[in-house]
Amino acid sequence: MIQSILISEAQIQAKLDEIAEQIRADYGDRPLLLLAVLKGSFLVVSDLCRRLGDNVTVDFVQVSSYGNGRKSSGNVQIRKDLDINIEGLDVLIVEDIVDSGQTLDHLLQILRTRNPNSLKVFALLSKPTARVLHVPLDYVGFEIPDAFVVGYGLDFAERYRNLRDIAVLSEDESSLAP
Ligand code: PRP
Repeated sequence: MIQSILISEAQIQAKLDEIAEQIRADYGDRPLLLLAVLKGSFLVVSDLCRRLGDNVTVDFVQVSSYGNGRKSSGNVQIRKDLDINIEGLDVLIVEDIVDSGQTLDHLLQILRTRNPNSLKVFALLSKPTARVLHVPLDYVGFEIPDAFVVGYGLDFAERYRNLRDIAVLSEDESSLAP
C-alpha cells in the first residue's frame, strides 16, 4: 500500500526540464547516447530523451541485483547487454535510483573498458545515506531519505512502476520483502 507521495508528477517533470537544459548546455550539438538501466529507468529515459535534441540516441542495459527484495544483494549481473559499440561515444547512463551504488559501480567498471569518449551519470533519485560504494553522479534529480520508494518506473515486486508520482511504500508491505 502507498503510504504517501514523496515527489509529485509535476515536481518530476519540472526537474527534468531543468536537467535537460543543463544537459543541452553541456553537450551542445554533440551526439549523445542515453543508456537507460532497465527496468526502472524506462519512464525517466522516455521523458528525458524527448527534451533533448536530434542528436540523441537511446540504448538499454539490464543489470540486476535486487530481485523482488528491497536490499541490493551486491551480486550484480548483466542480464541484457547494450546493442551497440560505445567506443568513442559520449554516453550518459540514465538511472532511476542510486541506492547502495553497487549496480552503478559495476556498470561503470564494465563500460569504461569499452572506451567511450565520455561516461557520465544521470540519476533521478539518490539515497546518500544508503551508499556503500562511492559513485560519481553528474546529474541528480532528487536526494531522498532511506525509505522504500515506488512509482515512476520503480517497483515493489514488479508493481507500482506505472504510478505517475514517486511514493513511499507502507512499512507493512515493504517489510514483507525478502
Ligand atoms: C534498482 C535501480 C538501480 C539499482 C540501484 O534496480 O534501478 O539499477 O536498483 O541499487 P543499488 O545502488 O543499491 O545497486 P533493480 O535491481 O531493482 O531492478 P529494476 O530497475 O528492474 O527494478
